[in-house]
Amino acid sequence: MKDLLRTQDLSRADVELLLDTAADFAKNPLRSNTALANKTVAIYMTKPSTRTRLSSESAVAHLGGTPIFIRGDELQLGRGETIADTARIISGYCSALIIRTFAQSDVDELGANASIPVINALTDDDHPTQLLADWLTIREQFGKDISGRKFVYLGDGNNMSHSWLIMGAIMGAHVVAATPTGAWAPDPDVVKIAQEIAKNSGGKVEVLHEAESAAKDASVLYTDVWMSMGDSESEREEKVLALSPFAVTENLMSLTQKDSVFMHCLPAHRGEEVEASVIDGTKSVIWREAFHRRTTIQSLLYHLINGDLQGSKH
Ligand code: CP
Ligand code: NVA
Repeated sequence: MKDLLRTQDLSRADVELLLDTAADFAKNPLRSNTALANKTVAIYMTKPSTRTRLSSESAVAHLGGTPIFIRGDELQLGRGETIADTARIISGYCSALIIRTFAQSDVDELGANASIPVINALTDDDHPTQLLADWLTIREQFGKDISGRKFVYLGDGNNMSHSWLIMGAIMGAHVVAATPTGAWAPDPDVVKIAQEIAKNSGGKVEVLHEAESAAKDASVLYTDVWMSMGDSESEREEKVLALSPFAVTENLMSLTQKDSVFMHCLPAHRGEEVEASVIDGTKSVIWREAFHRRTTIQSLLYHLINGDLQGSKH
């Protein structure tokens, strides 16, 4: 496996290896501090980022390398140079490329034309690196035996809901996305892929359209912003109305398991997708989750560059 373009590229063995190494990096951040010595990693983003950018830059530095951050408007790509040519050029200078942008097809094209590892740092469809941090946080909370547990995402059927379902399926988990029907439900093609993966992994994938039944006896309630980067402001009012029943409230948390936790990829909007008392309360693990963005990206870079991941075809 050369790239991480989509969550579904990962096998369960890959995820287990990545999480084991990330857990090591959490304890000993400088364990492999010459892996990228005298090397560079390009980080190209056409959307804003706090966590992914800073954790990626820190991860490269912890591996002994130098990150080169490039904003969307800074490359000749914006003036008509092709994605394929850009991929070849970056491959000549850097050891990996981390990219955040809109179209998944652009990331796929970069991966196909670059000879170095390309990592998807969020597209409109997927956010694989976030899910590595999420699953390390889940493993820290509940251990490796997750049988009988239910992991529930509530809100927009967006990139995060897709990654949640696919990663849960890979891990053999019972995963749920509770979303409105219609425009803000997850992409049915993604749901189909998740269900296919779950058939082999022993997982269970459900898409529900009611929050209370989804939350009942859950181990995790997870949510994301209601307005994603690139969403049209003209749809805000209608979207907020449709998503309001899926807000994570204290009442919803009270339906979950005793040892349940609240998770959020961040950034958060308190009073919209989550009540302040939940995200700032005792069940919230958002800071540990955010911390693991660095440990998991460090692990991902380390193993991709070493060629240690087997990948999975879905
Ligand atoms: N969770 C996440 O990807 O955050 P940023 O947009 O700040 O990178
Ligand atoms: N769904 C959000 C995730 C941010 C990390 C977005 O795409 O903006």
